[in-house]
Amino acid sequence: MPQNEKNNYKLIGNNLFSSDYKEFYKSEVGPRLESRHVFVRHVDAKKLNQHSINILEIGFGPGTNFFELLETFKDKKNKEELNYFAFEKNPIDKKTIKKYLTKLNFNKKNINFFLDSYEPVEKGLIVINFFHLKVNLFFFYGEFLDFVEQLFFKVDYFFLDPFSPRVNTDAWSMKTFQNIKKLSHQKSIILTYSVAKVVQENLLSIGFKVDLQAGIGKKKNNLLATAINQHSIEPIKKKKIVIIGAGISGILCAYFLSFSGFEVTLIDSNSKIMSEASSVPVAMVRPYFSPKDKIYNYFLFTSFLFASNFYKYLKKTNLKTGIKKHDSIFIPSKNFKFGEFFEKLLNEKKLINSSDKNFVDGHHFLLKNNFSIYTKKFSEVMYKNLKEKVSFQLGVKIKKVNRKADKYELLRQDDKVIQADVVIYAGGFKSSRTILKNSKLLKPSIGQQDFIKSFDGFSLPYLGDMYLNKLDAKKFIIGSTYHDGVTDDRYKEHDSQTLGDKFSNFFRDIELKKLGSWSSIRSITPDRRPLFGVIKPNFFVATGLGSSGFTLAPILAFLITKKIQGVDLFGLYQFSKIDAKRYKKN
Ligand SMILES: Cc1cc2nc3c(=O)[nH]c(=O)nc-3n(C[C@H](O)[C@H](O)[C@H](O)COP(=O)(O)OP(=O)(O)OC[C@H]3O[C@@H](n4cnc5c(N)ncnc54)[C@H](O)[C@@H]3O)c2cc1C
Ligand SMILES: C[S@@+](CC[C@H](N)C(=O)[O-])C[C@H]1O[C@@H](n2cnc3c(N)ncnc32)[C@H](O)[C@@H]1O
Repeated sequence: MPQNEKNNYKLIGNNLFSSDYKEFYKSEVGPRLESRHVFVRHVDAKKLNQHSINILEIGFGPGTNFFELLETFKDKKNKEELNYFAFEKNPIDKKTIKKYLTKLNFNKKNINFFLDSYEPVEKGLIVINFFHLKVNLFFFYGEFLDFVEQLFFKVDYFFLDPFSPRVNTDAWSMKTFQNIKKLSHQKSIILTYSVAKVVQENLLSIGFKVDLQAGIGKKKNNLLATAINQHSIEPIKKKKIVIIGAGISGILCAYFLSFSGFEVTLIDSNSKIMSEASSVPVAMVRPYFSPKDKIYNYFLFTSFLFASNFYKYLKKTNLKTGIKKHDSIFIPSKNFKFGEFFEKLLNEKKLINSSDKNFVDGHHFLLKNNFSIYTKKFSEVMYKNLKEKVSFQLGVKIKKVNRKADKYELLRQDDKVIQADVVIYAGGFKSSRTILKNSKLLKPSIGQQDFIKSFDGFSLPYLGDMYLNKLDAKKFIIGSTYHDGVTDDRYKEHDSQTLGDKFSNFFRDIELKKLGSWSSIRSITPDRRPLFGVIKPNFFVATGLGSSGFTLAPILAFLITKKIQGVDLFGLYQFSKIDAKRYKKN
């Protein structure tokens, strides 16, 4: 929670009390019991024969309902994915949540997993994936009505849990219920503890049938409402999905799609995956910042949180090889301004600490929860894993993609044709002009990575060294980490500027010994932001990833997978800055 907003809740016993609304967050029977009785016990994963189950909660609070639900997944290996969309207008701070959830004896691993990524800094979405449980938490900092017009999906269960209509009229307004109707389908179920007249009337007016359930504790009743006369939900068809490009962007699309049970074909003109830009020997996964643009900054921040959660999860699986977690010393150029967003993260010590006392110069920061990917190993294990689930066509170049009725025909170099219902273009810069019509958008940008010998006397080596010499340092040095997302003269410096130049201001009298270097071409757009989204029906792009592909690719691949599953978040304000449609003629 932002520092300047005062905490208007306090923990009393094992319940939270809101001094603004003068109500407890949960009733006197105890948070877990109430949560189970009113909400969680009604969720039946088996009944819904869809690709995933969608739950939407208004009023996440400290997350009792969410964590209670996770407990039911503890022993079962659920096959379906669960998407939990939670809205919270006044997020509770980490410390209080930790205390509260621990007191209630929820699974520690789940609590810590959650807290690692729970960083509501600005209004907007953060995604926290409990991959091991197949549960995706979409946490919206803000009111339900702030976002609902940008959301397109159908909800199976609504948990209405803001404070009561007596003290919080707005949350139960007709407008709220009309939007609930927009998101509901024939079998949607609405659950709430409130039996207030206004709630019942509003439910009836949007065409729901209201059932009173026996209450718990002092409460006589709760409500369960079921949809009647609503449009039926469209079943998700078996679609043939073809991905062009097996760089980090394409393979993560293939990874998330196969994780969600889709069959995919992955095509690359090279004989090996991750062999163009994505073959950079060591790729850093770190937060990027846009000095000027708050909305874009929030996208970058969400991407980093998502990526760091994702690589942390991979590290615990058989795909761990090639991934290292560490902190990074971040040395921006002198006089560099990061803007309000960075300052905010810094003030609140969210993933950034102002300095590391071991260091020579004052103007540096410690970035936490970073990762380094040793791409050679990473691509080997990824290939081995994906081979089981994905159909590969390597050494196959796509010349052109034609639209035929509601399908696509991909024309190969040898003139064979591949049919597809859904196409994802993740081809870097190479063939953008033939595949993305009239596109002059994706430009090649040459980059170079140097391997530098460790700095004598310091335990903080540059990243290339860590794999070459099997270093096990916990902290690594990186250069400036702004994002290229703005057109600004200050950033015109060529990427391949040597590290020696960059660091000489900071490391006086230290010899930087270059062990070798690697160079390759990455794709960039005119504003240096990714090119992402839908450019024709069922034709996605996830490219133009510039110099931060390993940080950006996970969330982009995940969002495409969700969209194919019927959960469309592309309209959210925070993704507007990367929308492929920002350039008219592609
Ligand atoms: C020197 C350097 C250092 C970098 N360091 C980092 C870093 O530390 N951290 C980080 O996150 N990022 C880093 N990057 C950026 C990162 O490497 C890229 O953003 C990322 O690899 C781009 O991935 P991609 O999947 O979009 O493209 P690519 O990896 O280029 O993959 C595109 C693939 O599509 C295939 N393809 C294209 N057209 C066709 C077609 N018509 N038919 C069939 N196949 C096709 C290509 O053969 C290629 O394999 C660095 C880049 C460079 C150059
Ligand atoms: C009763 S508590 C929620 C308890 C929570 N569901 C749990 O299981 O622990 C109510 C929460 O709703 C939030 N809230 C109230 N009105 C809201 C709105 N319109 N949109 C989003 N959150 C809201 C409050 O800030 C508060 O955190």
